[in-house]
Amino acid sequence: MRPLIVACLLLAVALVSGCPQQSAQTPSTTPSAQAPPVKAEPAKAPSSGPTSTLIPGLEGRTIGFSQIGAESDWRRAETKSIKDEAAKLGVDLKFADAQQKQQNQIQALRSFIAQKVEAIVLAPVVETGWEPVLREARDAGIPVVLVDRGVKVTDESLYATLIASDFVAEGRMAAEWLAKKMKGQANIVELQGTPGAAPAIDRKQGFEEGIAQFPGMKITKSQSGDFTRAKGKEVMEAFIKAEGKSIQAVYAHNDDMALGAIQALEAAGMKPGQDVIVVSVDAVKAAFEAMIAGQLNATVECNPLLGPAAFDAVAKLLAGESVPKKIVQDQLFDQSTAAADMKTRQY
Ligand code: AHR
Repeated sequence: MRPLIVACLLLAVALVSGCPQQSAQTPSTTPSAQAPPVKAEPAKAPSSGPTSTLIPGLEGRTIGFSQIGAESDWRRAETKSIKDEAAKLGVDLKFADAQQKQQNQIQALRSFIAQKVEAIVLAPVVETGWEPVLREARDAGIPVVLVDRGVKVTDESLYATLIASDFVAEGRMAAEWLAKKMKGQANIVELQGTPGAAPAIDRKQGFEEGIAQFPGMKITKSQSGDFTRAKGKEVMEAFIKAEGKSIQAVYAHNDDMALGAIQALEAAGMKPGQDVIVVSVDAVKAAFEAMIAGQLNATVECNPLLGPAAFDAVAKLLAGESVPKKIVQDQLFDQSTAAADMKTRQY
């Protein structure tokens, strides 16, 4: 049996960019589906995603899922994973897409509470500002499972568990890879994620820690591209205007922004992947394609397939069992298997 928690991160290094948008501001209900036969035994960790222990008891249960939005391939893959798992388990899922606005998420949570859902799955867009609504959920006896991003609260009992990746480690891995590639010398521009979001804060911190021991590795410009391809391109265009050919490397907090930056570099007559080394985080299919095309140099994996682990935690909580406060699940891949892994990538 493989371990329940796989705690390592991907650095897919290779030499060498969309998905349909979906949005629904108001909570909606996915159709119920028959739950498959279930066994109360630990599941094996699949090679492409987190684990599920297949605990029975979620069929017909009403659970709310407040999603950030559909800003990236990664986010769409996470939404699909959670919706697919809900359908598989027969969960009556109330889904709300917040279009990247915390206020919409708070409204969705209040709507879930008013509808008396039995549990809430929340992917919080930013870290702060959640205490009042989380207190309302707790007062209503509704457990909250955080997926993907964490929150900063003074009372940790306001949420049951956080299922996420180690974003600091991801930033550090990107830095270490880049320092090696650049032999410790590079003028780097950084495309940050959404301001106030855990992965933006942590990936910046990890990257800075990772380059600290290399005095020649300098971040010359750093700005938010909001985790989107369009904003990544726009900010990169401004970086190119300001810094021109002195830019030697791009560190993007996600693949979508890196892919936008690649477009901006090409439009400016520069060669991403060669003249300018590009490293990012997520490891979505489009990033593999860009690596194979020679435009993106490396990407660190952040696994979006959180549905099985999220409903596993919900099932345990509704059965009165305890769950760890943090569940970290990632895998490591390298260049030697990239082409083969590419064939089975689900995101
Ligand atoms: O919180 C995870 C980040 O959010 C992913 O890296 C990014 O692509 C997404 O939008």
